[in-house]
Amino acid sequence: MKIKLLLFLLFLPFIGWSQFRSIIPQPVRAEWYRGAFSLDKSVVVYYPEQEKDWDLAAEYLIYTIEEAVGVRVKKLPTEKLTNREGEKAIVLQISPEVKPEGYFMRVKENGISIKASDATGVFYAIQTLKQLFPTSFFDATTVLPVWKAPTCLIEDYPRFSYRGLHLDVGRHFFPPAFIKRYIDLLAMHKMNRFHWHLTEDQGWRIEIKKYPKLQEVAACRDETLVGHYSNQPHQFDGKQYCAYYTQEEVKEIVEYAKSRFVTIVPEIEMPGHSRAALAAYPNLGCTGGPYKTATKWGVFDEVYCAGNEETFTFLDDVLTEVCALFPGDYVHIGGDECPKGSWKKCPKCQQRIREEGLHDEHELQSYFIKRAEAMLAKHDKKLIGWDEILEGGLAPSATVMSWRGTEGGIAAAKAGHDAIMTPGSHCYLDHYQSDPETEPTAIGGYTTLQKTYSYEPIPEELTEEEAKHILGAQGNVWTEYMQTSDYVEYMAYPRAIALAEVTWSPKNRRDWEDFSSRIILHFQRLDALSVNYARGLYDVHAAFENGLLNLKAASEALEIRYTLDGSAVNPKSPVYTEAIPLEESCTVRAACFQKGTRQGKDMVLEYSKHLASGLPYTLTNKPTHYTGGEEYALTNGITGSDKTWSKWVGITGKDLDPTIDFGKKQGVQSVELHFVNSKGSWIYPPRQIQVYTSDDGKNFTLAAEQKIDAEAMSGRSVETVNLALKNTEARYLRVLASSYGQIPSGMPGEGNGAWLFLDEIIVK
Ligand code: ACM
Ligand code: ZN
Repeated sequence: MKIKLLLFLLFLPFIGWSQFRSIIPQPVRAEWYRGAFSLDKSVVVYYPEQEKDWDLAAEYLIYTIEEAVGVRVKKLPTEKLTNREGEKAIVLQISPEVKPEGYFMRVKENGISIKASDATGVFYAIQTLKQLFPTSFFDATTVLPVWKAPTCLIEDYPRFSYRGLHLDVGRHFFPPAFIKRYIDLLAMHKMNRFHWHLTEDQGWRIEIKKYPKLQEVAACRDETLVGHYSNQPHQFDGKQYCAYYTQEEVKEIVEYAKSRFVTIVPEIEMPGHSRAALAAYPNLGCTGGPYKTATKWGVFDEVYCAGNEETFTFLDDVLTEVCALFPGDYVHIGGDECPKGSWKKCPKCQQRIREEGLHDEHELQSYFIKRAEAMLAKHDKKLIGWDEILEGGLAPSATVMSWRGTEGGIAAAKAGHDAIMTPGSHCYLDHYQSDPETEPTAIGGYTTLQKTYSYEPIPEELTEEEAKHILGAQGNVWTEYMQTSDYVEYMAYPRAIALAEVTWSPKNRRDWEDFSSRIILHFQRLDALSVNYARGLYDVHAAFENGLLNLKAASEALEIRYTLDGSAVNPKSPVYTEAIPLEESCTVRAACFQKGTRQGKDMVLEYSKHLASGLPYTLTNKPTHYTGGEEYALTNGITGSDKTWSKWVGITGKDLDPTIDFGKKQGVQSVELHFVNSKGSWIYPPRQIQVYTSDDGKNFTLAAEQKIDAEAMSGRSVETVNLALKNTEARYLRVLASSYGQIPSGMPGEGNGAWLFLDEIIVK
């Protein structure tokens, strides 16, 4: 009986240690026991010496321990394993039944055993082991003679084989030291692919020995756009921007990636996004040039000529050097956003279409990609391309990277091709992740950590068999607006960690509430590593429902405090517990707190109370995309800003005409509204604003109107219109903002319907 009780106590899962159990990504299975393993100088690492890559993993473990305890640690071949008195063994063992990249780790008081079928699994076991120690373990300056970890058993392996993060070094260049750090952070989160986007319209960033002008010309642009692309007219910094990685630097980075069990997927863009290469070698373009490396962002008509054999000789030579540098099995050849205009006009391209019996320019693009595929095959490399490579027919062995939604990935998988999912909606880490109002400039969008975490890489449309073609997912970091490494880190983290868990952890082990409390702790590890991660997790989100203000934090572990008088929120401000009725115009401020400590920024919301606040309305044309975030966004009391469209109600090519029912006759003196003027983003002023009143909701009379001179407005602005109504009483009010109509020729988006954006109909 006594023995039974003792056994029971021994194996009772240990309750404390919660901070050490915050493993990210979530492992497949973890059991926690009473007791601790002490990492100290008595540790000896045993590893199977014959296996080359196991040596790498063992080296990494030794390096990790030595950094933590500050003394040299012994490493011995497994045959030498004895259970010497006073020695704690960390034993690495080959175990073929463990899944690829997986591990089985048993942490006991007197030692640790790690079993894996490959060295990558051992490396990931070490990543988990590091997270078992206090978070200061990650701080290289904290050296302790003893570090304690809870005893446990962890079984783990990845859900997907492709767990990637991308970086665009074309728009901005980041030094080799940062690339290594980027790889380190990937590896820490068990991601295994670094997609290195090396060539762009704005710069060619990899040394190619056979083509020196790629270094002299294509690696340079004359100047760079300042501010957001939609701020027109465009302004430039007037400073030349030149940078590339030498092949020596590339080799060093490849070697480093290998030591972190990360495979690099280099990308050489074709046939589009190639202006920098054409600037260096204008003979490769349809017109022969001259061309210039792009100085602003976008999609350009200047692309490689598909009718000219010199193009293919050049690309064959480039890919030969690239394949020799990168040991991985994949090379990405781009394939996205290639306008076909210059091919349509080019005699050589047209001749190619005829000779090859192609139907159109899409099939010419397909021809182009198939030739790239053949070039790679000579070097035993497989081709990945963005989902446009589906258009005109997929190259036989191509893997598709699905970015314009999930359709490309679905089509590829259904056709029996492999696919990697990276839809803009969840995986584009260049989007805003927090209120754009208080964030540094980003390209646009709004993808929170929670949204990224919610991503499910297997589309519902696929059968189980087809789903096997989904290799995994990837976060993309396009750097138009990221000039510095610090800012790259800010945009990538913590969202990359959400994707790490999406691609590693079993679907049924994913849980936002659990993740959010683990990541709050994980932030301490990132702090120890001085990672410049974003703190959008601590944003307070506001929404109106039936005239009540709802405040929400991303995690239940967080508490919201708020004020309604515009004063700064402090630890003594009231705690939010239920929806707040707003009786009058006010400034709402709210912030997240955790255990009494403030986290993140104040949310500030200007609420205006007016005659139409909180009232429902009808619309002839319902917006579908830009809804302002709620059903009656035009009367919720919240105005928009020119930084984010999330609070605006927008519609394309049609009028907006909210009709409000006051419920009874009201005296109305004025109607104020705001609209957006941002022609670069296809958003146009209304032609005119008219206000109608009615007593019966059927017969309306014009009460006020104002014409808008759209042509007189440039740049990007929020404009206000104020219409006075004289001695008017009405039960119904209809405000008609007339669409600009079609975007005129010569303007961005020409021929499409202009967007019309309104935020709030302020009735007084
Ligand atoms: C892409 O974002 N153009 C792949
Ligand atoms: Zn051509």
